[in-house]
Amino acid sequence: MSGILDQIEPLKAAATEALRAAPDLPSLENAKGAFLGPEGRFTTLMKQMGALPREERPAAGKAFNAAKVALDAVLAECRDRLEDLAAAPKEPTDFTLPGRRRVLGRRHPLTQVTDAIVAAFRRLGFAVADGPEGEDERHCFDALNTPADHPARDSHDTFYLDTPGRPLLRTHTSSVQIRVMETQAPPIRIIVPGRVYRRDNADATHNPTFHQVEGLYVDEGVTVGDLKGTVEFVFRELMGADTKIRFRPHYFSYTEPSFEIDFSNALVRKLGKDWLEIAGCGMVHPQVFENVGYDPERWSGWAFGFGIERIAMIRYGINDIRLFYENDVRFLKQF
Ligand code: DAH
Repeated sequence: MSGILDQIEPLKAAATEALRAAPDLPSLENAKGAFLGPEGRFTTLMKQMGALPREERPAAGKAFNAAKVALDAVLAECRDRLEDLAAAPKEPTDFTLPGRRRVLGRRHPLTQVTDAIVAAFRRLGFAVADGPEGEDERHCFDALNTPADHPARDSHDTFYLDTPGRPLLRTHTSSVQIRVMETQAPPIRIIVPGRVYRRDNADATHNPTFHQVEGLYVDEGVTVGDLKGTVEFVFRELMGADTKIRFRPHYFSYTEPSFEIDFSNALVRKLGKDWLEIAGCGMVHPQVFENVGYDPERWSGWAFGFGIERIAMIRYGINDIRLFYENDVRFLKQF
């Protein structure tokens, strides 16, 4: 029966060779099964140990154990090597290939138009001012000569907030005129780009939030001529040198006289129109100066306000205002 002991070493050598010869992980599993599986040759030999005389069993057990430990080590080593091989790329890396390109973002079309507006006014010496979007009635309406029962207030459907102090969302950037005049002495030359809110249902030309630019110029001896010259300069910068401007009488509670500004150029004619209404403006109402503590006998000024979306839509030929807020990359990457 000592034949069993003699068979251990050759079988171990055969198993080692078969495991090492496996070219990939499935073949390795096959080789393992052939020797160490339940029906494997090594397992089968081990089972014969029970037939050995009692005094020979300890030595045989030791030899089997040593062989098993050695084969397990070979198996683990082969597995590591074949796993590494499976994970390695088939082709050698080509370091001369171009890298992956990342798409660069760009400024939103509304930001681009706002920047262009700001740049045009900066050339005329205007500074950018800012104010809160959550406002009080005084800055949004009352100080602008628009008391609670004033008809002009109906055209602004206002979002009211459940917060003390700033109970509404500003319906126009005109509120910042008041904030600036309250805290600064004339002369004033500011523009105010910013977000405004109105209770409108969204459609192709309306959105409950949109953007405006406010302008305010206060000094001694300011005239409507200054206003017209300034507006003309800026719109030519924005909309092209062929742009014409026209003022139509209008009503705003904070200006007297008040005007609506129409403009005309090739872009407008492309839309099948002669003139498009683009902004409101006028000479600052004496009562507004009184409300902020300026002497209306000494100071005069003009103000205007217009919607940035409308300018951007005309400039780029966009027919639905909602496109600005959806942030669909297919839309945004065109600008
Ligand atoms: N606040 C006006 C609006 O939202 C626009 C406007 C008109 C602003 C006349 C002005 C102005 O400063 O003088 O429709």
